[in-house]
Amino acid sequence: MTVTSAVGAPLDRVDGPLKVRGAATYAGEWPVENPAHLYPLQATIAAGRVTAVNTSAAMAQPGVLAVLTHLNAPKLAWATDPEVAVLQSDEVAFRGQIVGAVIAETPEIARHAASLVRLTYEQRPHDTDLRADRDDLHKPQHAAIFGSMPGDLQDGSPADSAAGDVGAGLAGAAVTVDATYTTAMNHHNPLEPHTSIAIWTDDEITLYCSTQGVHLTRSLLAGAFGVDAARIRAISPHVGGAFGSKVYPVTWATLALMGAQLVPGRPVKFPLTRQQMFSLVGYRPATIQRVRLGADSGGRLTAIAHDVIQQTARVKEYAEQTVGATRTMYAAPNRSTTTRVTALDVPVPTIMRGPGEATGMFALESAMDELAYAAGLDPVEFRIRNEPEVHPESGLPFSSRHLVTCLREGARRFGWPERDPAPLSRRENGWLAGTGVAASIYPSARLPGNAATIHVDADGRYTVEIGAADIGTGTWTALTQIAAEALGVAVEDVNLRIGDTTLPIASSAGFSSGINCWGTTIYAAAAELRARLESEHGGTVPAEGIEVSAEMPDNPYMAQFAMYSFGAQFAEVRVHEDTGEIRVPRLLGVFDAGRIINPKTARSQLIGGMTQGLSMALHEASVIDPRFGHVVNNDLGTYHFAANADVGSIEVHYLEERDPYTNPMGSKGIGEVCIVGTAAAIANAAYHATGIRVRDLPITLDKLL
Ligand code: MOS
Repeated sequence: MTVTSAVGAPLDRVDGPLKVRGAATYAGEWPVENPAHLYPLQATIAAGRVTAVNTSAAMAQPGVLAVLTHLNAPKLAWATDPEVAVLQSDEVAFRGQIVGAVIAETPEIARHAASLVRLTYEQRPHDTDLRADRDDLHKPQHAAIFGSMPGDLQDGSPADSAAGDVGAGLAGAAVTVDATYTTAMNHHNPLEPHTSIAIWTDDEITLYCSTQGVHLTRSLLAGAFGVDAARIRAISPHVGGAFGSKVYPVTWATLALMGAQLVPGRPVKFPLTRQQMFSLVGYRPATIQRVRLGADSGGRLTAIAHDVIQQTARVKEYAEQTVGATRTMYAAPNRSTTTRVTALDVPVPTIMRGPGEATGMFALESAMDELAYAAGLDPVEFRIRNEPEVHPESGLPFSSRHLVTCLREGARRFGWPERDPAPLSRRENGWLAGTGVAASIYPSARLPGNAATIHVDADGRYTVEIGAADIGTGTWTALTQIAAEALGVAVEDVNLRIGDTTLPIASSAGFSSGINCWGTTIYAAAAELRARLESEHGGTVPAEGIEVSAEMPDNPYMAQFAMYSFGAQFAEVRVHEDTGEIRVPRLLGVFDAGRIINPKTARSQLIGGMTQGLSMALHEASVIDPRFGHVVNNDLGTYHFAANADVGSIEVHYLEERDPYTNPMGSKGIGEVCIVGTAAAIANAAYHATGIRVRDLPITLDKLL
C-alpha cells in the first residue's frame, strides 16, 4: 500500500481476519469470571399497571440471586425518559415492556424463575390502531428526529412547511396525482441481538455492550444512575449490525446495570432473545402518507404536497422527518408538508436506516412515477426536468448534487432506453416483467462531540484513538485509510483504536455521519501533530515519541451549502401471472456520495442498503394483534426479510465526485442513501409489469392478483 493510494484503495477489512477466525469479541462473548445471568419479565397487558407482585416461588428456586420489580428496583436519578428509566413505576405502557427481571446462577434458572413470578395487573383499554381518521392526530411536540434524546441531532425543522399556494398550483396543473401510500411497521433484526455484560464495583462500572456509540451510552447511563460518567466504562469494539437500533441502547443496558448493582462485583449477562427484540429495541413506525402533485404541460411540477401520519408511542414521542426528502428533492413554486402523529399503546419507535427518508421517498417517488405516466413522460426525464438549482426551501446551493448524472448514468447502464413504457408490455413464460426507477437522497450530517488522539513513536508507528463504532460497515478500515492519508503514511503504520470510552469522545454511528465526523477529527489531529513536530521538534519524531489531541473543527460551509448524498435506483421486477409471486431479478444503483474512501466496503454497504430496501418493499411487516397489542410475528420464522434466494443481481456504481465542502476527505455519507428509493423503484417496476399500482408496503402477492 503506497502513501497516496490509502484513500480510494479497496483495502480488505482491518478487522476481517479477527472476524473470520471467530476472534472478534462481541458483547456477549467477553470472558468474564463467574457471571450471573439476567432474564427479563415482560408485561402481558398493553396498558394499565401492576397491582401485585408475588416473587416467592421464583425466589425459592435454587440458584436465584435476585428478583427485580418496580417495588425493589434502584431508584434512578434521571427517570424522565421511559426508554432509559426501566422499573421506575407500576405503569404499563405497552405489551412486552420490562416489568421485572430475575438474576440467577445460570441462564436456564433465570428464565425458569422468571416464569414463576406472578404479576397481577389492572388493565385499561388499549389502542394500537393507526388510522387516518383518528381524532387524536397532533403535531409532534419535538422538532428533533428523536423525542427527548439529550445531546442528539436537532435538525430544527418545523413539523410543517409551506410555500406558495398548493391549491392554486394543483388547480392550474395540466396533470395531477392525489394518492395515499402506506408503509408497515418494520422491526430491527440485526444479526447480533442486543446484549450487555455489566459489572458494578465501588470504583468502576463496566459495561460490555453492543452499541453504535459508547460515549452516548455512557452519558445516558451516567445520567440515569446519577453517577459520574468517568466511573462508567463502555466497551464495544465489534458490533454485529445495528441499523439505528443500537444508537439508543438503554432499556436493556439500564436493566443490566441495575442487575449488576444487586450483585456487586459480579458480571451480569443479559442477552435479548430474538422474540424480546420485537418489544424492546425499536422499529420503523408505520405511516399513512398522502401525496399530491401537479405538473404543467411541459412536465414541470407546479405543486408538491406531502401529508404524513405516523404512529408514535403514548409513553414517549418519537417523530421522524418523513417529509424531509420531499422538502429537498424537486423544485416547484407551491409546496407544503405536514407531519401528524398519533400516540398508541405500543413500544417506542426508533430510527432505522434512512429514518423518515426511506418511508417518505417510497411515497414521493411512487407519486412521481404516477405523475410521469399521467403526463406521458419518461420517469427519468420527468425527474431531470424538475431538478432544482438550489435547495427549494433554504435557497442554499448544494455542496454537490449530481442526481441528474446518476439518473443518466444509471439509465444507460441499466438499459432503460430500450424499455417500452406501456404497462403489461413484457410477458415471458408466464411472468410479467417490468422496470422502474426512483431517486435517492440522504443528508450529510454532523453530530457534535468528537475528539481524536494520535501517538507516534520513534519508529514511525502511529496509534490513532477515537471512541468511534464500526457497526459492520467497514468504518475501522475506512478510518485507518483516512488516518494514513491525513498523516501521509502507509496504512500499515497506522493502528486505529475505537469502541471504548477510555478513548477520546466520539459521536454515535448514525445519520450516515460517522466518516464525516470522525474522519474530519482525525484530519484535525494529524494537522496538529504535524504542527507540533514542526514547531517543537524540527519536523522529526523525538526518541520518546509524541502525542497530540484535537477536537472536530466546525465546518463553516454547513451554513452556506445544503449537503446531501444522492442516487438513482433502477429495478426489474417479475410477477407471475397466475400466482402473483413477485421477484426482483435485478437492481442497479448509481450514487453521488462524494469521494469513496474504500470501494470494497462502500460497495458492500450500498448493496446491503439496497437489499434492505428490497426487503422493505417485498417482505417486512410487523403485524400487531389489536386485541392484545403485541407483534404476533415476533420471530424470524414469521417476520420475513430478504434472504439470498430473494436477491438477484445488485449492481452499484458511484460517481467519485469529491465534494468540496463537506469535509477534508471530500466524502458524503453512504450508509443510508442506498435504502432510500429502493422500495419505490420496485413498486414502480411492479406497476410497469402488471399495470397494478401497489401503494401499500410490503408488496405481497395478494396485492397483485
Ligand atoms: Mo442510522 S438509522 O442513523 O443507524
